[in-house]
Amino acid sequence: MNEKETMEKLVALSKRRGFIFQGSEIYGGLAGTWDYGPYGVALKNNVKNLWWKKFVDTRFDMFGVDAAILMNEKVWEASGHTGAGFTDPLIECANCKKRFREDHLAGAKCCPECGGVLGEARDFNLMFQTQVGSQGDTKSYLRPETAQGMFVNFKNILDTLHPQLPFGLAQIGKAFRNEIAPRDFIFRTREFEQMEIEYFVREEDWESAFTGWKAAMEEWMEEIGLPKEALHELEVPEEDRAHYSKRTIDFEFDFPFGRKELYGLAYRTDFDLKNHMEHSGVDLRYSDPATGEKFIPHVIEPTFGLDRTVLAVLVSAYTEDELDGEQRTVLKLAPSIAPVRVAVFPLLKNKPELVEKAKSVYSQLKAVFGNVSFDDNGNIGKRYRRQDEIGTPQCVTVDFETLEDNAVTVRDRDTGTQERVALVELQAYITNTAK
Ligand code: GAP
Repeated sequence: MNEKETMEKLVALSKRRGFIFQGSEIYGGLAGTWDYGPYGVALKNNVKNLWWKKFVDTRFDMFGVDAAILMNEKVWEASGHTGAGFTDPLIECANCKKRFREDHLAGAKCCPECGGVLGEARDFNLMFQTQVGSQGDTKSYLRPETAQGMFVNFKNILDTLHPQLPFGLAQIGKAFRNEIAPRDFIFRTREFEQMEIEYFVREEDWESAFTGWKAAMEEWMEEIGLPKEALHELEVPEEDRAHYSKRTIDFEFDFPFGRKELYGLAYRTDFDLKNHMEHSGVDLRYSDPATGEKFIPHVIEPTFGLDRTVLAVLVSAYTEDELDGEQRTVLKLAPSIAPVRVAVFPLLKNKPELVEKAKSVYSQLKAVFGNVSFDDNGNIGKRYRRQDEIGTPQCVTVDFETLEDNAVTVRDRDTGTQERVALVELQAYITNTAK
């Protein structure tokens, strides 16, 4: 299967099985927007919950924030986003008027669409501007990164929770960029979600914090099932770094359309807090509780694109193989993020005693695992295939023997092996055999 075929199959499966649809599809779509369907949103929520658990709930030095998407215009002046810091070079064809990102043209002199003459590059700001209020007189922007919502709340966190350095803030939320060339499914979109951390340290501690976060990010990528050989770390040279960064590592992933940025880890210095302090006139310094010394902390920023995570996870999980002499498509998703954790089937649909027993097993598992599915449609083989395609790690079948021995058959997605498990042990079996 070539790379183009892989993407086509993944996009087709995403639509057919209710993971991801084109945005505003019945109106012909809107470029750079995608909608998540029931299995897509379940997968995305599982990723978010796992991320929050790992980076907030199980740590002592992290606090959550959920800031507004619309922010005071001055935020973006202070952060450098309204200036030259947040633009892409745009080139227009004099003939067909199509616009391209200069770095996507690879030095070409003629239009790749019509062969026309290309104009000079000009800076194009990626922020979506909007007006706030009935008179529309207050200019605002849809945030292009979630990060600033954390910097502007730095003082609120100091004043309310009194944390000591080092500590960090975490946020998951939407970000918007008017990308010149949205492309590659959910890889580059105009509306997307970020999971970001701003970790505040003393200047002299930035390198050790950077190293620590690099390891934590590597651990995360392993936990969600991304294969090591598809991941690469790129030390970003100075001329390619964002305007605020003194060191950046890009975590790249081998997508079917090439090796591209998945995540970033940046040392943002004291750039943001210093600028917000200057522009707002509010003292954003941290006060050392032992010595009383006041200073602006430095920042390490691990940033994770959520939609790119979903895409990398789907690409890694997508498998076509043969099981019991039959071709199948299977998503080998890590059980911790699979949209359906376990599915329950009565062997036959028209035997009330089987259906009743299966429903009771279903209810019990649903109370524990939440994302449990019930299916009594078609033969068992077909039901397995349907669950394989959406990545359900285990299927439980209630048969006539169950009524006698209170045991069920549990079938494993990846190997197809089946085991007889007593109902009293089912919950523990599911928890322990697929993690
Ligand atoms: N706060 C830092 C920041 O926003 P970035 O590298 O511009 O840094 C962070 O974006 C992450 O957001 C990227 O690594 C990527 O995963 C995701 N991302 C950026 N632009 C995106 C887009 N147009 N579509 C989907 N994801 C995007």
